[in-house]
Amino acid sequence: MSTGEATSFGNISASKLAEIYGTPLLVIDGAVLTAAINEFVSASASTEVEVTYAGKALLLVGIAQLLKESRLRLEVCSLGELTTAQRAGFPPSRIDLHGSGKTDAELRAAADGAVSRTIVDGIAELRALASYASPSSPVAILMRINSGIEARTHAFVRTAGDQTKFGITPRDFSTAARIIQDNAALNFRGLHSHIGSQISDAKAFIRNAARLVDAAARLKRLGLFTSDLVVGGGFAVRSRPSERAPLDVKRTIASIAQEVRKRSKARGIVLPTVGIEPGRALIAPAGTLLYRVMARKRQGRRTFVIVDGGMADNPRPALYGAHPDAKLAGRRSNVRLEMVTICGRSCENDFITDVRLARDVTVGDILAMPMTGAYTYSMASNYNRFPRPAVVYAHGGNHQLMARRETIDDVLRGDVGFLSV
Ligand SMILES: Cc1ncc(COP(=O)(O)O)c(C=O)c1O
Repeated sequence: MSTGEATSFGNISASKLAEIYGTPLLVIDGAVLTAAINEFVSASASTEVEVTYAGKALLLVGIAQLLKESRLRLEVCSLGELTTAQRAGFPPSRIDLHGSGKTDAELRAAADGAVSRTIVDGIAELRALASYASPSSPVAILMRINSGIEARTHAFVRTAGDQTKFGITPRDFSTAARIIQDNAALNFRGLHSHIGSQISDAKAFIRNAARLVDAAARLKRLGLFTSDLVVGGGFAVRSRPSERAPLDVKRTIASIAQEVRKRSKARGIVLPTVGIEPGRALIAPAGTLLYRVMARKRQGRRTFVIVDGGMADNPRPALYGAHPDAKLAGRRSNVRLEMVTICGRSCENDFITDVRLARDVTVGDILAMPMTGAYTYSMASNYNRFPRPAVVYAHGGNHQLMARRETIDDVLRGDVGFLSV
């Protein structure tokens, strides 16, 4: 898509923000973020489903400060994310700790009460956590199970089934139950299963919920009582008009809750509190990456537009074939459109996306990639020793820095050379 419209956030233009903060720049539109939070909160209110924001999609102190004021819980999966939440003053009573390979420091933080629930990903981790926790203040755990539901999504973001590393399989339930029952330092609260990302078929969530209830029924027979049941995140977002419509959030949440209610009754278990854990659906729509065009070339039959970012700040296209939309953002153009390939400036042939842009797009122009708030900045690296971009929050006609652009000194901070040479 290309347009004759200049992009703006509220009444602040993209070109103004690019001029003030430089590019690449991730702009978070506060109005869009608030609308997404409100959509999930109101969609879950009548069913009393708990909504947890998956911080891996984008977690900054400022984001955690904003979320603190909402009713959302927060999921962290590392000491870095936990510390971010702590700096924001996010209440531990609303934090869950994830991770498919938790460090001793992370397990210790969980045992010390830095979070309200720890989602345990394996048998060895269960034992390790028990060794850090004390029976006088037992650590609340959810057992992440591998429900075997294979979401129809890219293999890199599929997180259930026997081709994935995640969770505890039903084969190990009795071992897990024994460890939990033998350890007064572990307080079993329930089950969790996240099957993947970019899920646009509500049936996958419902099947996952059903498997969780079945697992809860089995664990009840083994003496464990499930009070919380989290069906994970993965609500798809639509990056281009041509992509499948995203899930109807309200209807999907209602269907999940209904399935849990119906099946719990059928399996004879007490109705648990249901939770969901979306990341991208909350933050992707609020984020827009702004790039400046560095070069434009015709090679064979293809036109390349090279921008001042790429796989270091926007790795999803290279990692799992994401295909963001892009448009000319800094000015109006009414000239004809042509198909171009937007590339980054890394040392790979790093295609970001193919889009139709105005033929007069040239060096210095600002391009905007909407729907890029999730898994861009949070996945950014210093590849090619590029500094990470800045993140700015635009709301109600104001703009405010959330993360300053890194300097070359930041990039080299940990590089000590051979101190003794
Ligand atoms: C355990 C868990 N929960 C939630 C999410 C959020 O997924 P999404 O951002 O697709 O909603 C993820 C993403 O990887 C995850 O691993």
